[in-house]
Amino acid sequence: TSPFAPRHLLSIADLTPAEFATLVRNAASHKRAIKSGAIPQSLLGSLSGKTVAMMFNKRSTRTRVSTEAAAVQMGGHPMFLGKEDIQLGVNESLYDTSVVISSMVSCLVARVSKHSDVADLAKHSSVPVINALCDSFHPLQIIADFLTIYEAFPPKAHHLSSLGLEGLKIAWVGDANNVLFDLAIGATKMGVDMVVATPAGYEIPADMLEIIQRAGEGVSRPGKLTQTNVPEEAVKGADLLVTDTWVSMGQEEEKIKRMQAFKGFQITPELAQRGGANGGWKFMHCLPRHPEEVSDEVFYSPRSLVFPEAENRLWAAIAALEGFVVNKGKIVE
Ligand code: CP
Ligand code: NVA
Repeated sequence: TSPFAPRHLLSIADLTPAEFATLVRNAASHKRAIKSGAIPQSLLGSLSGKTVAMMFNKRSTRTRVSTEAAAVQMGGHPMFLGKEDIQLGVNESLYDTSVVISSMVSCLVARVSKHSDVADLAKHSSVPVINALCDSFHPLQIIADFLTIYEAFPPKAHHLSSLGLEGLKIAWVGDANNVLFDLAIGATKMGVDMVVATPAGYEIPADMLEIIQRAGEGVSRPGKLTQTNVPEEAVKGADLLVTDTWVSMGQEEEKIKRMQAFKGFQITPELAQRGGANGGWKFMHCLPRHPEEVSDEVFYSPRSLVFPEAENRLWAAIAALEGFVVNKGKIVE
């Protein structure tokens, strides 16, 4: 790669622990500043005259709205390109699309299916590519999720290369999917332990487990990841209960089979009680949510962080655009 090759954000695995923690802290400080009415000087007009191309071949509420709003707050122009609007791997190669669009804009934010598609776009793009969700990763979501966790469990001391969350425990109950994979990578880097409960046959694939393990290399206290097929085992001693849909976009044809397989995996107050979650346990979900994976009693309870978590997508998008577009991949406070 040439010294001018752009730096991309395809997964949390692309970030060192210090960089990941810095993005989360930057998101937190921009949130505080902007909410108190003062947009930081370093952000003001920082994307002025710049276009952020948003190439989405799947639906989106949060990722689309947060990215567009972030670009506007920074003085840039978000350009939404849905799958009916442009040739995105249909009727034109991804190579051609990437070369052409990146010659005209300052950043590509792409939501595709296969990870290899977003990786291909990145390979041929002359500007940074930010993954807006693929079948394997969802980095913008995980920056927002760790901001949410950092706010809910504030660290007692200042840490440089972590968020001071070491030893916290996340129970993931449900499907092993894109959101879980990047969450587990982030947790490994931040020293947060995770127990993942999926039905048999729906565990984390071996190649993904390897990527998650590798995220802990060089980390002084990496988070531990354990898998089980028993939801109660995951919940035991957990500070956070987290889940996502049982049927991700693109899996619609498996819906009936999945509904059957995931019976008993709904997050409810009874599950938390039976499993022995920590007294102060909180609930998170990236949304969109369906009632089967979590009961209303949990989803709309004071334990639920889902709406601050969704709002945090905006602050995560600002921090990511600042780090990857304004500062060209140099992630600094
Ligand atoms: N959480 C999330 O990415 O939501 P959208 O699919 O609505 O963007
Ligand atoms: N796992 C879900 C996340 C949506 C934000 C999906 O891929 O559809």
